Amino acid sequence: MKRKFCIAPMMKKTDKHFRFLSRLLSENAYLYTEMIHSNAIIRGDANKLLSFNDCEQPVALQLGGSNPKDLGIAASIGEDFGYSEINLNVGCPSKKVKSGNFGVFLMKDKNLLSECLYEMKKNVSLPITVKCRIGVDEFEGKDFLFKFVNEISNVGIKTFIIHARKAISGLDTKRNRSIPKLNYKIVKDLKEEFPELEIILNGGIDNLEDCKNLLNNFDGIMLGRKIYDDPLFLLDVEKEIFNNVSQESIKSIMNKYLIYILNLQSQKDLNRALNHLMQLIKVISKNKKVRNQILHSLKNKDISIEDIFVNLKEDLLRKDLALNL
Ligand SMILES: Cc1cc2nc3c(=O)[nH]c(=O)nc-3n(C[C@H](O)[C@H](O)[C@H](O)COP(=O)(O)O)c2cc1C
Repeated sequence: MKRKFCIAPMMKKTDKHFRFLSRLLSENAYLYTEMIHSNAIIRGDANKLLSFNDCEQPVALQLGGSNPKDLGIAASIGEDFGYSEINLNVGCPSKKVKSGNFGVFLMKDKNLLSECLYEMKKNVSLPITVKCRIGVDEFEGKDFLFKFVNEISNVGIKTFIIHARKAISGLDTKRNRSIPKLNYKIVKDLKEEFPELEIILNGGIDNLEDCKNLLNNFDGIMLGRKIYDDPLFLLDVEKEIFNNVSQESIKSIMNKYLIYILNLQSQKDLNRALNHLMQLIKVISKNKKVRNQILHSLKNKDISIEDIFVNLKEDLLRKDLALNL
C-alpha cells in the first residue's frame, strides 16, 4: 500500500526542498508537489517548476486547471520528468481558482471534470488520481458524493484523496480548512460502498493514535498542516506506522539537510529551504533569540551542525530529544 501515509500538497510549503527534508525524515511517506497550474507548465519554465531530487520518490505531481487539452499536455510533461503519479486538484476553493473555474469548482461540473481526466489518462501511462472535497456549496450529501465518485471512477479513476470537509465559495481559503466540521463518516461509508476504489482520508489528522485507527477504515491517510508544523512527527510515523526502527538520528538528518542547503545556488532556493529548516528548529526550541542567531549564521553560510546543536542543547535535553542524537 504505497499511499498508506501521504504528505498533502501545500502551496509555498511542499516545494522540492521540503520534500527533500521530508524524505530524510521518512522513507515511507508518499509525497505530493504543490499544485502547479497546467498553463504555467506549458507556457512557463517547466524545468524550474518540475525538477526534483530523485530521492524524493515516490512523488506525485499535483496539477490545477480545467482545460482538458492543457491538462493532458501538462500531465504528459510531468510523466517525462519522472513523477510517480499525476493528481488533479479538485479541492481548492480559493478566489483565484473560482475565477478560473477549476479546483473544487470542478465538483460542480462532472462532465468537464471527466473530460479533463479523460485527456490526462489518454496522454500518460501513470496513475491519474483526484484530490477532492466531500462537496461544495449546495452540491453536498451522501447521494451527491456517491454519484460523483461513481461517475468519475467510470472515467478510470481508481484513487480518490478526500478532504472530509465541504468547501464553501464565500469563505476564504484558510477558513475553508476549518469550517464547516469534518465528516469522516461519509468518507467511511463511501469506502464501504466502493470497496474496490482506493480511498485516502484527509483533513484534521494530527496524532498517531488517530493515524493508526483511521488506517483500519481507509486505504491511506494524508496529513498536511501537522507535518509542516511539526516535521519531526515523521520520525514517529516511521517507527509506529511503518515499524521502521532503523531511523537515523535527528542530528545526522539535520546535517544532511544542512549540506543540501549549503549547496543550493539561488538565493530564492536558499531562503525557501532555510524556512523549512527553521520550521523544524522551531519545534525543538521556543527560544526566538536562539533561533534568530541560528538563522543569521545560516544565511551567512557560517555555521556547522555542531554549532546548531550547541545552540539547541538545552532545548533538546528538555525535550528528551537528546536521546535520539
Ligand atoms: C498552506 C497550505 C497550502 C495548501 N495548498 C494546497 C494545494 O496546493 N493543493 C491541494 O490540493 N491542497 C492544498 N492545501 C490543502 C491541504 O492539502 C489539505 O487538504 C488541508 O490542509 C487539510 O489537511 P490537514 O488538516 O491535514 O492540513 C493546502 C493547505 C495549506 C495549509
